[in-house]
Amino acid sequence: MKIVITGGTGFLGLNLARAIIKRGTMAGPSGRQEEVDGILLFDQVIPDRLPDGLDSRVTMQAGDISDRDTVFALVDRDDISVFHLASVVSGGGEKDFDLAMRVNLDGGRHVFEAARARNGLPRVVFASSVAVFGGSAMPKVVGDTTKQTPQTTYGLTKAIGELMVNDYTRKGFFDGRTVRLPTIFIRPGKPNAAASSFASGVFREPLNGEECVLPVRTDVQMALLGYRNAVAGFVGLHEAEGAAIGDDRAVVLPSGTYTVEEMIEGVKRVAAANDITLGPITVRPDPAIEAIVAGWATHSEAPRAEALGLPNDESLDRVIQDYIDDFMPTH
Ligand SMILES: NC(=O)c1ccc[n+]([C@@H]2O[C@H](COP(=O)([O-])OP(=O)(O)OC[C@H]3O[C@@H](n4cnc5c(N)ncnc54)[C@H](O)[C@@H]3O)[C@@H](O)[C@H]2O)c1
Repeated sequence: MKIVITGGTGFLGLNLARAIIKRGTMAGPSGRQEEVDGILLFDQVIPDRLPDGLDSRVTMQAGDISDRDTVFALVDRDDISVFHLASVVSGGGEKDFDLAMRVNLDGGRHVFEAARARNGLPRVVFASSVAVFGGSAMPKVVGDTTKQTPQTTYGLTKAIGELMVNDYTRKGFFDGRTVRLPTIFIRPGKPNAAASSFASGVFREPLNGEECVLPVRTDVQMALLGYRNAVAGFVGLHEAEGAAIGDDRAVVLPSGTYTVEEMIEGVKRVAAANDITLGPITVRPDPAIEAIVAGWATHSEAPRAEALGLPNDESLDRVIQDYIDDFMPTH
């Protein structure tokens, strides 16, 4: 079977591709395990050479998800699954409303229509976010059944995507599943336009010996999930029996809540255990970022994910150590 990952050369897309390569098989449209003979990473930007951890089964294609014909050409087999991750992220969506609508809404619709056009019931896994929640009536702890009242354009587009996945599945157009992600850490490489970017930067920059400038105060709390278990969530939800998911196809992934202070203490502990000298951490609040972050849920519960066996992190320190093992090979 073929796997298409949109946003495939992004942080989670690449790690998902690596996990699928390691597995070798995935549940096909019939539900039976099928050998994965091709993984297509579709993204606006692709690197010059295939990133580490991938092999000849993987191809990369550059293009724009908001171009309907391009997207239809990606979904060119019936024995196919699509992981739809391509997205304008939260900070980017606040800066450019029209771009967020075009990429997230129109792009999502193209992906869903392309999967609908296939014979059979291809599995489609959509990457949503706890940014679908927000506003003054948001409860302290959000979960699978919390009302979606997003307070960003990004969150709006994710909420609409979730509802579309539910309805396309109800109509029998495809077999959809939505992973509703908390903030995922630790993203390697450079900071991105997500308002949550500091939740990776607070670990990554100091571990690289560079300065981290924090745009929020240290008592700010964040719900976080490590990237290995985020990928396990994508794979696990793809593999789950449709009947076990039920009519609401969106599942909140597990997370742990940490203050920024706890993140700083954690990176100090793990750096010391690995003999790494940390770069400095400076607090310089940015009102625009603080306003977005203040609107996010700090705690979530994930009973449906737990019932489906989707894993949570063992500890904050474990994720920091995973990052050092996976992304700092020369250390
Ligand atoms: N990482 C997180 O903390 C987090 C949290 C909640 C939800 N999510 C969602 O998970 C998904 C993956 O997140 P990520 O952290 O890997 O983000 P990312 O920014 O690393 O990856 C998204 C990819 O989408 C691509 N993209 C953007 N516009 C495009 C376009 N017009 N056409 C084609 N590709 C385009 C980008 O180039 C990027 O590589 C996204 O949908 C994101 O909204 C992520």
